[in-house]
Amino acid sequence: MKHLLSIADLSREEILSVLDTAVSMHEVQHRDVKKLPTLRGRTIINFFFEDSTRTRSSFEIAGKWLSADTINLTGKGTSVSKGESLRDTVLTIGAMGVDMMVVRHPASGAPAQIADWVGCSVVNAGDGTHEHPSQALLDAYTLRRALGDLEGRHVAIVGDLTHSRVLRSNLLCLQRLGARVTLVAPPTLMPSGIAAWSGADGFATSYDLDEVLPTVDAVMMLRVQRERMSGGYFPTAKEYAVTYGLTPRRLGLLQDHAVICHPGPMNRGLEISADAADAARSLVLDQVSAGVAVRMSILYHLLAGEGSQE
Ligand code: NCD
Repeated sequence: MKHLLSIADLSREEILSVLDTAVSMHEVQHRDVKKLPTLRGRTIINFFFEDSTRTRSSFEIAGKWLSADTINLTGKGTSVSKGESLRDTVLTIGAMGVDMMVVRHPASGAPAQIADWVGCSVVNAGDGTHEHPSQALLDAYTLRRALGDLEGRHVAIVGDLTHSRVLRSNLLCLQRLGARVTLVAPPTLMPSGIAAWSGADGFATSYDLDEVLPTVDAVMMLRVQRERMSGGYFPTAKEYAVTYGLTPRRLGLLQDHAVICHPGPMNRGLEISADAADAARSLVLDQVSAGVAVRMSILYHLLAGEGSQE
């Protein structure tokens, strides 16, 4: 493994290897001295051309806890704002001798393009509406901790599916791990041509959240991404919350053992009610905690693991 660009590039075994290593990485979080020498002397640039709280800080913490030197750049404050092309910017950074670029970009496919241009490892930290592979891996880690093996488990992914890179990566990842997936959205936010998505077969779709909720082991609520919407995808926020939000009433439809995920940032009161976000069965903060461990594991696999130099 040299790059992490898409879950489609990972076999089931590679996914499990990342998740297994993350278990031991997670222990570091509870130590007084949070430092392993694994990536001493390695340099990682976090290049974020789009806003981020969780992903950016957890990649930075993951690099630091593995003793790598980490540097953060954003589109603002770099020569990108002076009109430098993406290619010139990343070639410039690459020429400094970095070992890895962690890239978030509003254009789908940008990290893959960068991986073609530069010699170092590239991690996709979210590209447009395409993929967010590290999020899917941390979600799988969190769900396995809560539910055990995901083989045969039923997961509903609900909300603004059209604009969600989290959906695309999670669908592939959950299916590789043997879970049964149902996608729930209003017709306007169900991606067109979804039935033909390559590599992702055998999932169900529904417009009726009430019907699906009693059958799931986990429900993953996705954010309504207003910044990617140009027109009216639903009449009003209130109507969306009533028809597709995880409201207090809908919590009562879940089986006793069923858990709730949300990748954050949450729109409380829109796709998820405060009761659901703060429920005992909500894994939202477990996902954040797992994010550091899983990203440590990703850095380890790409920069220090067997075959990392291939
Ligand atoms: C997601 C993202 O940026 O794609 N957030 C995240 O990384 N935790 C989901 C979102 O923005 O809604």
